[in-house]
Amino acid sequence: MLNYDTDSFSCLLPVEGVAHSLTQEPPKTDPNRNRIIGGSRLMKKVRQLVREFAMEYDPILLNGETGVGKNHIAWVIHHYSARRGKFVVADMTTISENLFESEMFGHRRGAFTDAWTDKEGLVEKADGGTLFIDEISEVPIGIQAKLMRFIDTQRYRIVGTTTERKANVRIIAASNKDLREAISKGEFRQDLYFRLQAFEILIPPLRHRREDVMELVNSHLHLLKGKSPGSGFWECLQKYDWPGNVRELQNIIKRAGISCNDPITGPELQSIIKQGCFLLPEYSKTNHKKHIDDIWYQLISSESDFWTAVKKPFLARDLNRTEVKEIIHRGLTLANGKYKDLIKIFNLNDKDYHKFMTFLRDNKLR
Ligand SMILES: Nc1ncnc2c1ncn2[C@@H]1O[C@H](COP(=O)(O)OP(=O)(O)OP(=O)(O)O)[C@@H](O)[C@H]1O
Ligand SMILES: [Mg+2]
Repeated sequence: MLNYDTDSFSCLLPVEGVAHSLTQEPPKTDPNRNRIIGGSRLMKKVRQLVREFAMEYDPILLNGETGVGKNHIAWVIHHYSARRGKFVVADMTTISENLFESEMFGHRRGAFTDAWTDKEGLVEKADGGTLFIDEISEVPIGIQAKLMRFIDTQRYRIVGTTTERKANVRIIAASNKDLREAISKGEFRQDLYFRLQAFEILIPPLRHRREDVMELVNSHLHLLKGKSPGSGFWECLQKYDWPGNVRELQNIIKRAGISCNDPITGPELQSIIKQGCFLLPEYSKTNHKKHIDDIWYQLISSESDFWTAVKKPFLARDLNRTEVKEIIHRGLTLANGKYKDLIKIFNLNDKDYHKFMTFLRDNKLR
């Protein structure tokens, strides 16, 4: 039984949380390591999914921009899963392609030229626990089949041996890329994606849940080193788009505590934000992607409905067919493929169902 509810998450973040890069478990001294901050509707949804999925065995896919909290949420899921084994992080951006298999499954001494000693694989380390595969899109395509087989059977083979072993490992994968784009380029296996996306959690960017900014800052007030928020402070934080999300917010607050005068004014904060130059590639890359994301979050935060946010711009040729299909695909993922549930996600009524289906059919959107 999970012993948390929505409100109990709204609390302090650790001092260490700012600089600490989560390579394994967060430090035990951190009183807030098991909490997800944010009272916005979008984060309530995230917490609800975390609660629903935590106790299951199936893999989970966490999707979201850099700094939204994928590592953090993976840890929280592990914590509430009641799995007794370790939380092990496999960072795919740091494992070289030719060593991937031996890192993951281990090797025996002499299995290849540089294998001087036996090596325990990450899968074995995570036996009975959780293996968090960070940036799953970086897993080489040739190895993805082996990973999928492991997910399906819990069986693997140590490199340089012929016998199979078993490990009871829950996989949580994270990506800040669109895996479907990787599939279309032939870089990611569709069957692996389908295994992962059954339990998918989309972690919204901070700019789509601005009401969380104040709560996050209030939980970091100690970083302001006794200085207080002055005129324009909150307005400045509310206006900014936070391309680096929660991590960027933590960094800005920390720097403000070090270098601003007391009280800290909006213009001072603004200059820190500018110096930071945090415009990240994921955010600035394509207007196309941002466009879809904005519409998507308008829908799931109930700011707008499908007719206004999608149909209208589509008919005005401001949205193309591929973009609409992408939005529908995301909705269907949340609705487990059921169109009757999809219309609710798109803030339409039951009586809109036939109109909606006709619209999809007439415009070749299915
Ligand atoms: N909702 C939240 N509640 C508490 N802390 C959070 C929350 N979201 C993010 N954080 C904190 O923000 C920082 C960045 O989060 P994290 O490293 O998990 O992001 P990420 O999505 O994995 O980023 P990247 O894609 O760059 O790896 C961490 O210090 C984390 O503890
Ligand atoms: Mg991360």
